[in-house]
Parts: sequence; structure tokens; C-alpha cells
Amino acid sequence: MNQPNKAIPGLATRQSALRLLDAVCRRGETLDQAMPAATGKLSNPSDKALAHNIAANVLRWMTALDAMIDSATRNRLADDAKPRMALRIALAQVLILDTPQHAAISTALPLVHGGPRRLVHGVFSTVMRGIESGELKLPEYPEIPGETLDRWTHNWGEDVVNAANHAWAKPAPLDLSFQTDDIGALEGEKLAPKQLRMPPNLPVTGLPGFDEGQFWVQDLAASIAARLLGEGKGRTMLDLCAAPGGKTMQLASAGWNVISVDSSAKRMERFQDNLGRTKLQAEEVIADLMQWQPAELADAVLLDAPCSATGIFRRHPDVLHCIGARQIADRAEGQLALLDRIAPWVKVGGTLVYAVCSLEPEEGEEQINAFLERHDQFAIDPVTVAELPEHISPTENGCVRTLPTTLAEQGHVDGFFIARLVRKD
Ligand SMILES: C[S@@+](CC[C@H](N)C(=O)[O-])C[C@H]1O[C@@H](n2cnc3c(N)ncnc32)[C@H](O)[C@@H]1O
Repeated sequence: MNQPNKAIPGLATRQSALRLLDAVCRRGETLDQAMPAATGKLSNPSDKALAHNIAANVLRWMTALDAMIDSATRNRLADDAKPRMALRIALAQVLILDTPQHAAISTALPLVHGGPRRLVHGVFSTVMRGIESGELKLPEYPEIPGETLDRWTHNWGEDVVNAANHAWAKPAPLDLSFQTDDIGALEGEKLAPKQLRMPPNLPVTGLPGFDEGQFWVQDLAASIAARLLGEGKGRTMLDLCAAPGGKTMQLASAGWNVISVDSSAKRMERFQDNLGRTKLQAEEVIADLMQWQPAELADAVLLDAPCSATGIFRRHPDVLHCIGARQIADRAEGQLALLDRIAPWVKVGGTLVYAVCSLEPEEGEEQINAFLERHDQFAIDPVTVAELPEHISPTENGCVRTLPTTLAEQGHVDGFFIARLVRKD
């Protein structure tokens, strides 16, 4: 048997990182989807975490890494060529993760076979010489990939794109949502009731109050949709697309009688863990909303629709490499079908909140404008400043849109669109 590579320490981790990048860049999978298969051979959780971290940093810094690689090759390597992938992995380690050069290159070379190894070695050495002489330098901020950059520049302008680049450079703060306004002994920045912003990368499960279920992790922007529904006072709420349960927990702790529906049994396991830990109550249904229907109309319906998820690019750097115009159009079509199906489940006088963690108007503003044209029994119930966290204002027509520029000085928030509608008749 010829398996000499097995002896190289750390190689299996880099092979896993390569498989992760292949899954994202070639097959359009997310890192989370790709993790089980790509890292299955790694038994140590810290090796799995390192493979994920290498791949995530390659995805975040790809524009800058590729510019360095291209500066050192006469013929441009194809985007998905293995030598380019091996070089991205080696350079991300040296330049971002502070891995020693010899460790980075000795684990990158075995990722390619035959002649291209010389090429990888040559390009790596040239780039390192450029770095040492000061000719090449990693920019201060990573740059979002070209297709997204063009789309967001067109839709939102350059300030938003610059803010997105800045937001991408740093780990996101840890936002906690609490059951009550009692945040115990924890210290952080309070940007809204029942909320606390803490520094990034804290081990959340070790924080006081976690085991007791006093709080859960939830980006501030993600908490807005449920805030707009106010106190439940025992009224009935359908939380549609509910797993892993962040919004159900907010609604249950605000006194709503919640029925939570999601089609993913796996995500509903996390939902059960969350509700178990926080000891909050909700009726749980695992079903496809296109098949299921409620026994009775509800006082309020929250649809946290499946979307492109481009608004959560800070935490999921794969998203901007997988999502393009076709995927956005597909997601928008799915949202339209879901909205049309669930709209009749709202009582007359009741509320429908629609939310997406997307920075694409097709899934947000345009989706809701088109919905209102199809369903004239609904109207926007305008959101007021008083209902929103500090530094976030409603849009001109009373909806909510968070962008990379939102709360930039406080560490940014995820990109969301939220509309609150009332059923008039
Ligand atoms: C944005 S996530 C929901 C996050 C959740 N609301 C929270 O706050 O924790 C979207 C969810 O939609 C679910 N989903 C997608 N299509 C669905 C369908 N046709 N029926 C029911 N759930 C669906 C997915 O399984 C996923 O859990």
C-alpha cells in the first residue's frame, strides 16, 4: 500500500480543508453542509475546527489571496484548479492564522500530485519573498467576492459594500437574547430590552446563566421580528420555519401561545434542546408548510422564510461564494409560494410578520411589495422607532432593513428585512 502522506502531521486536516473548499466552490454547498463528509476522517474535534477555520479564512480572504497568487504566475491558474486551492490554503495559514511557513507548505504540497507540486512550491516561495520585501501585503480588510460586490454596489451603494468588507474582517460580537430583562451578572453593551452584546468568541456555554436557560445566542437583528409582535397575553402565534427556535423562545417568553412548525427533523432536535434548556413551552410540529395547515386561524403568524442567507455572511463566509442571481431567484420563488400559502392562516385583524436574513431586495422589499399587490386584504403595519433597538430606524414605508452599515461602530448586525402586515378583512 502506498500511503506515504499519512505520516505528515497535520496533512489530514488540510485535506479536509481542501474537501470543504471543493464542496463550497465547486458544488455550491455551505460549510455546515459539507463538514460531516469533508472532516469525517478526523477524530479530534480540534482538527475538525482547524479544517473549518482554514476553509473559512480562505473563503473570507479569497480575493486578496488570489491577487497574490496571480502576481506570481505567468499563466493564470483556473479558479478551481487544485494548485490554486493548495496555495490559498497555505497562504491563509501563514498570513491569517500565523502558521509557520514550513508547516504550511509541507502540508500544502501533498494536496497536489506530480508536476504541479513544483508550481505550488515556486508560487508560494515567490509570494513569501514578496511579503518579506514588503512588495506584497495582505490588505487591511478582506473584500467580498466580485459577483456579490457588483450586486450590492448596484443595490445598496459603495458605503454599504465598504462596511461589508469591514464587517467581514472581524469576528462578530456575541449577542444574547434573554427571557426577561434581568441579565444577571453579565456585563456587556445593552442595545435593546432583553438583550446584551458581548465580545466575540466567548465560550457561551460557560457563561453564568447558560445552564439555567436564562439566555440564548441570537444576533440583535435576528431578534427584531419577534420584538415587533409584542406581548402575547396568551394569544396564539404560528411560528413558521421555526428551527432552531430563537424566535420561538422570544415569543414564548413574551407570553405567546406558540405553535412552531419546521420541516427539518434535524434542526428540530436543536429546537428541542433549546426549549429544554430554557424550559419554555411551544407546540412543536415537524412538517412541510406546503402540506401542513393549522386547525384554526392564528392571532399572529411569523414567517422566518428560508432565504439566500446573504445577511449572515459574517458568520458564514461560504454564503457569498455559493449565492448568485439564480439562487436568489429560486429562493424568492419559494418565499412567494410560502407567503401565499400561509397568508390565509392569519385572523382578520391579526398580524403577519415576514423576515429574511438576506441582503437581496428580491427576497425582502420586492417580495413584500409584490405580496401586497396580490393580497389587498393586507397592509403594512408601520414599525415605530420606539419598537426598535438603539441605532436602528424603520424604512420610509414602515418596514425594517438592516445593512452592513447598521450599528457599524458597535460591531455591525446581520442583514435582515422585516415587514409587519395587518390583515384588514
Ligand atoms: C431562517 S431558518 C429559521 C430560523 C428560526 N426561525 C429561528 O429563529 O431560530 C429557516 C427554516 O425554514 C425551514 N423550512 C424551509 N422550508 C420549509 C418548509 N417548506 N416548511 C417548513 N419549514 C421549512 C428550514 O428547515 C429552516 O429551519
